[in-house]
Amino acid sequence: MDVYEAVASRRAVRGFTDRPVPRQTLERVLSAAAWAPSGSNLQPWHVYVLTGGPLAELKKRAGERLAVGDPWDEPEYEQYPPALKSPYRERRSAFGEQRYGARGIAREDLEARQRAASANWDCFGAPAALFCYIDRGLGPAQWSDVGMYLQTVMLLLRAEGLHSCPQMAWAKFHRTVAEVLSPPGELILFCGMSIGYEDITADDTRTGRAPLAETVAFIGG
Ligand SMILES: Cc1cc2nc3c(=O)[nH]c(=O)nc-3n(C[C@H](O)[C@H](O)[C@H](O)COP(=O)(O)O)c2cc1C
Repeated sequence: MDVYEAVASRRAVRGFTDRPVPRQTLERVLSAAAWAPSGSNLQPWHVYVLTGGPLAELKKRAGERLAVGDPWDEPEYEQYPPALKSPYRERRSAFGEQRYGARGIAREDLEARQRAASANWDCFGAPAALFCYIDRGLGPAQWSDVGMYLQTVMLLLRAEGLHSCPQMAWAKFHRTVAEVLSPPGELILFCGMSIGYEDITADDTRTGRAPLAETVAFIGG
């Protein structure tokens, strides 16, 4: 698979089969992803890979919290500014329409949206997940390094025939994740990532992208 194909075929997949992901495959992907760039080569990512019993335990604990309507943990970072301005606000609405509208869930049907969103905490059925932390003393440039690293992981997963879904949703249950992983206190959970083989029978969300001219300016020849 060439890089263009890996980029084009990566999507946030929200339905996985229970086919296990071999440990050697995950090690191969994460060893290669370690070559992602970072400012001054700080390599600010801290990753935990969960499969088998520990992942089942995490899903169970998260499911129990959802079942009793336990509120989210206090946020450790702001996922979105409180008032999104244009054009981001419109892009978010378009995404909501693609994700929920396409499945017949109306904008005002918050309960149905929440039900669909709750699959996040079952990792959409995935048999593997990673949890990516960053030191709380690091700043925006290092958070951006972590993003580059995670995209590198997701592209390499495509080369292995695997799919993924990055999930900030897990940050809302960061205490539950910490119960299972026991990370050092100086780390913040940025996101989880479900990993596995796509369930092609599951509901699919196809997103679009802004026209190139909206996000890129070519100056000069
Ligand atoms: C940092 C990050 C966090 C995300 N968190 C979630 C999440 O919690 N749940 C989810 O279903 N999708 C999540 N997504 C997936 C985005 O919704 C998705 O990437 C975006 O809509 C574009 O769609 P595509 O990845 O299928 O091209 C996240 C993506 C990123 C990059």
